[in-house]
Amino acid sequence: MTTILECQIIDIKKIVRKKIDVNIDHYASSFLERRVQNRMNMIGIKSYAEYISFLDEDFLESFELNSTLSINVTQFFRNQTVWDVFKQKIIPEIISLSSSDHPISIWSAGCAIGNEPYSLAMMFSDMLQTNEKKFKIVANDINPTSIGIAKTGQYEFEKLKNIPNSFLSKFLEKIDDDLYKFSDDLKKTITFQVGDVASFNINHVDVILCRNMLIYYADDAKELLFKKFHKTLNDSGFLVLGMAEDVPLSMKKFFKTVDLGMKIYQKVSLDP
Ligand SMILES: C[S@@+](CC[C@H](N)C(=O)[O-])C[C@H]1O[C@@H](n2cnc3c(N)ncnc32)[C@H](O)[C@@H]1O
Repeated sequence: MTTILECQIIDIKKIVRKKIDVNIDHYASSFLERRVQNRMNMIGIKSYAEYISFLDEDFLESFELNSTLSINVTQFFRNQTVWDVFKQKIIPEIISLSSSDHPISIWSAGCAIGNEPYSLAMMFSDMLQTNEKKFKIVANDINPTSIGIAKTGQYEFEKLKNIPNSFLSKFLEKIDDDLYKFSDDLKKTITFQVGDVASFNINHVDVILCRNMLIYYADDAKELLFKKFHKTLNDSGFLVLGMAEDVPLSMKKFFKTVDLGMKIYQKVSLDP
């Protein structure tokens, strides 16, 4: 297949915005191109021009394209080593830095179907059980279906394999042989919301996890997001990215590297 033209990418972004009022401007062109090619193969369309006409005429195609863009692959305790470092190095520091008057505040940005915020909730709940401190987690995703699943707190047994046995018995209840649900007490620690990370209304956060979402982002949109993360974090707050992600060059001086391999950074209190 030939390479898509930049003007065709612009047309596709405009049509999706016009048809379903969703902004897909932030996606990198190469990623958008691959997703458009997938849709064209599925529908049996051979040229980008033909696909753009189809997108403009068929109302449902904008929904279809948008849902292939928001890839929601996830796991509990995804990349186990990151969680080990987070538990041993980062949580103790967050606990010592946080003020006693406020709960520790955590943002899981782009949380998909909730595995990351539930992993966080189990870990913080376990570590704070002998401590006076409380925590709260806000978790958002642009995809309403994913947030709907996250809110149920119900997962198939085979999806729970990364959760340690001690956590399974402590935080989950069996519904039947195949289905488990998180306890109401654990669910209460998380607020799930549908929303775009870029415009999400949140402040005074001690740690942000934004993992495996930015790989699909264009560089200029990425820079804006890191400015938002910087503003949202409390002084010395932590930022955790996905294993294939990094702080953009233009924002490096505003985030100190805490663990390069694990993609853990800490806010530097300078104004970007
Ligand atoms: C690959 S999943 C990663 C989930 C989780 N963070 C993890 O690492 O396992 C990426 C998620 O980001 C969401 N997403 C993509 N763009 C977004 C945006 N602008 N605002 C909020 N969520 C977004 C997608 O819907 C998808 O659920």
